[in-house]
Amino acid sequence: MNTKAIGIFDSGIGGTSIWREINSLLPYEDAIYLADSKNAPYGEKSKEQILELSIKNTELLLSKGCKLIVVACNTATTNAIAYLRKNYDVPFIGIEPAIKPAALQSESKKVGVLATKGTLASALFHSTSENHATGIQILEQEGTGLVALIEQGKVKSTETKELLLKYLQPMLAHGIDYLVLGCTHYPYLIPVLKEMLPENVKIIDSGEAVARQTKAILKQYALSSSSEEKGKHQFYTNAEVKILDVFLRDISSQKEVKYLDF
Ligand code: DGL
Repeated sequence: MNTKAIGIFDSGIGGTSIWREINSLLPYEDAIYLADSKNAPYGEKSKEQILELSIKNTELLLSKGCKLIVVACNTATTNAIAYLRKNYDVPFIGIEPAIKPAALQSESKKVGVLATKGTLASALFHSTSENHATGIQILEQEGTGLVALIEQGKVKSTETKELLLKYLQPMLAHGIDYLVLGCTHYPYLIPVLKEMLPENVKIIDSGEAVARQTKAILKQYALSSSSEEKGKHQFYTNAEVKILDVFLRDISSQKEVKYLDF
């Protein structure tokens, strides 16, 4: 019986949107989540810095005995997952902007991608766009400032709404019918986005796909939990516990939210 936990990390609270999908698909798995909020936003950092932070988070999760690591951050995935896979002996699941499903379903053939500077600048993002969006116009938009506001819990603030309006307008003027959320913090903006977007524009993110992939890889490596009890979840933040607590207040499953200096 495998009793080890799934390790999950992000630059902050954003990856909890991925943890939610994983917990809903794999309710019997334990998880350890690292919110590296002290170092957010990763999206404004250099590739070397993002790699260094990803290594630090990975080694901490491995020291806690994690059996598989979910890099619940587009910025860290697109800049560091190749290195992590090469240098550590556990399976890694990453997350990338959902360009492929958006490109397949778009009728206007125009897809907007809202992501961090670090993700949009990465080689992996570029190869994915080239390989999966032939004949589609991709309108890229850096979401500068949004992660910092979400990390402060200002999801519905006027400041956040004004920034979003500024970022959405050019994409809407071009006639996008899909908006890809290329950062794991952004699903927390969906209620606000829905108020702002015309009805024909659909929002898409990769959370569910990551959960499905996690399930498949656990099975492939014979790492699935055989526990008959619901999973236990430890959330660690190196910034304010209060904020992480607020983002998880609706979660009723067994959870601990703690400060850790990492
Ligand atoms: N949540 C992360 C992502 O998916 C990182 C955001 C950031 O720290 O800039 O890209």
